[in-house]
Amino acid sequence: MKIAVCPGSFDPVTFGHLDIIQRAARLFDRVVVLIMVNPNKTPTFTTEERKEMLEESLKDLGCNNVEIAFSDGLLADYARKIGATAIVKGLRAVSDYEYEFQMALTNKVLCEEVETVFLTTDSKYMYLSSSVVRQVARFGGDISPFVPAALLPRIRTRLQTE
Ligand code: PNS
Repeated sequence: MKIAVCPGSFDPVTFGHLDIIQRAARLFDRVVVLIMVNPNKTPTFTTEERKEMLEESLKDLGCNNVEIAFSDGLLADYARKIGATAIVKGLRAVSDYEYEFQMALTNKVLCEEVETVFLTTDSKYMYLSSSVVRQVARFGGDISPFVPAALLPRIRTRLQTE
């Protein structure tokens, strides 16, 4: 069985993440969407909230080989523990590349048997990131082009009362 891990902060999940998850679900037998700690970021939403938003978003996609998990450890350790074949990440632009390349090489040293696979983002989501969503929501803008409709009230409420 080919298992993939899709790691990220998902703070919050966007249509860009969902596109990568759906495509990974077509390539692998089992996909674990892994909410992780990015030491360079302070999350806006709690782990539980991010998990609920992912669950809510994935419900309608009909990917029955996708599950959600959380880890506050190393990605390489988690990937090894579950016998993953690949770490799947989305690449938006050249600006993502240097950081992602460094992470991929580090993870390869830490866990030789797991490959990092980059999927190029769909061109309609090239510009999209969780921080764009947070910023637009904070200033009262329309975030409906960026996240599933079911998440709108929760994101708006949280960011506009901060
Ligand atoms: O969505 P993000 O914030 O770009 O995701 C980055 C993330 C969480 C995948 C990355 O920070 C990560 O892998 N964190 C876990 C710790 C780890 O294994 N780091 C890589 C080796 S330094």
